[in-house]
Amino acid sequence: MKPIAIISDIHGNLEALEAVLNDIYAKNITEIVCLGDIIGYGPNPVECVDLCLNFKVVILGNHEEAVLFGAVGFNPKAKLAIDWTRDQLNTQLKDKDEMRKRWNFLGEMKIHHEVGDVLHVHGSPREPTREYLFQTDIRDEMKMQKNFDRVKKISFCGHTHSPGIFSPSGFKNPADVFNVYLVGEEKAIVNIGSVGQPRDGDVRACYVTYDGKSVVFRRVEYDVDKAVEKILAIKELPPYLAMRLKEGR
Ligand SMILES: [Fe+2]
Repeated sequence: MKPIAIISDIHGNLEALEAVLNDIYAKNITEIVCLGDIIGYGPNPVECVDLCLNFKVVILGNHEEAVLFGAVGFNPKAKLAIDWTRDQLNTQLKDKDEMRKRWNFLGEMKIHHEVGDVLHVHGSPREPTREYLFQTDIRDEMKMQKNFDRVKKISFCGHTHSPGIFSPSGFKNPADVFNVYLVGEEKAIVNIGSVGQPRDGDVRACYVTYDGKSVVFRRVEYDVDKAVEKILAIKELPPYLAMRLKEGR
């Protein structure tokens, strides 16, 4: 199959999203799947939504869910960012039709998307929007089994902002496979990492490409300082959201 790009957890970081899209288009890849959390935390939710309007598949993240239906289970700081984000989507827009288009886009995001033997989700195969699959969960046999039961061959997810591969034989970091995971006989759940708020200690934006046979983990440098300054300039956004971009945590 023609390679596709899969991106997730942009979180309103326009600098990171633009850098990743440039990287994708430079590879002549035109099909992009987005696994959710386009918004929340970051300073440019409207601009980021606009860049995602025409993607082939867009999955609902827990931050879109929070903006649409209320921030259930969010900590107070994350909730502040959600309220500010909702406000931006409602007030930053002058044109009513444009505003409606964006809210319709958010409202029509899919909970999951299955094409052939590939399943796309935000969180986990069995609980697509909210469940986290952490590296340590590989020891939770029941949790992993229930998730693998929902996967035909391969599933792509985001949500933890930490890239890696879960398979019945164990967990691998991208470095363990030299950034190329070859799809074999085993089922796999691949966390594709985060574009706009990486948490694996690498500040660069993260995404993957997939051609049916292999998953390639890719890192892209972007103007972190610019994104940091923008967050610090918005009083409704907690400063730690800026500082963590500098550390990739
Ligand atoms: Fe996220």
